[in-house]
Amino acid sequence: ARSDALPRDMEGLHVVVSAGGTREPLDPVRFLGNRSSGKQGYALARTAVQRGARVTLVSAHTAALPEPAGADIVNAATAAELRDAVHKAAADADVVVMAAAVADFRPTHRAEFKIKKTEADPDAVALTRNADVLAELVENRREPGSDQVANQVIVGFAAETGDNGSDVLDHARAKLARKGCDLLVVNRVGEGKAFETEDNEGWLLSADGTERAIAFGSKAQVASEVWDAVVSTISRSRR
Ligand code: CTP
Ligand code: CA
Repeated sequence: ARSDALPRDMEGLHVVVSAGGTREPLDPVRFLGNRSSGKQGYALARTAVQRGARVTLVSAHTAALPEPAGADIVNAATAAELRDAVHKAAADADVVVMAAAVADFRPTHRAEFKIKKTEADPDAVALTRNADVLAELVENRREPGSDQVANQVIVGFAAETGDNGSDVLDHARAKLARKGCDLLVVNRVGEGKAFETEDNEGWLLSADGTERAIAFGSKAQVASEVWDAVVSTISRSRR
């Protein structure tokens, strides 16, 4: 979309978007990672700039993507680095969107030198739980005295698998309730369902119980729908 075709309805807002997939090192050359391309997060950042927002993009590993012009970019390789960067940027943010695929676990031990292949059978990789950044954002907002973030809008993403729409939505509704965020962007993955299909493979679930399908296909279109929902959430809370 051309920026002059978009509403300038996000002026005065500081939004934080996390994007891409974290990489959890095993040794200096190996990591546990995931398939996130970062495209949706980058589209969210680009669209928010075009709609007038100040944007901080916390970027984990992505495919080779053009940097969204006008966004402040902070690079974060691991879940721990991303956690620090998001919390720092969120301190004065009106909106935080967690589009990043954050590793749930990291290898407990990070070898200082490259792990060598030996004749012995390898050990299993021991894993340690990472902090849940989205849950922490919701928790911080509840803290008494956190004036700056009391009205912060917090958006989560969920990629779910299921045999039919209700399975995916059941998981997603439970996740929205568990996480306590304001909006959850849900997309169906797996069994040959590429994110790039033109079908409705996504939903936008709101903490107020509103649910609507999103036409997946264009990441910019999805970004616009997410920001529309965020803007209306903000205008309702400020009325
Ligand atoms: N998330 C996060 N910190 C983590 C893991 C996830 O902030 N350590 C965020 C993601 O960025 C996303 C949301 O939480 O916005 C949902 O992530 P998801 O992996 O779907 O949820 P989990 O609670 O980790 O559940 P599971 O992986 O078991 O489905
Ligand atoms: Ca997870």
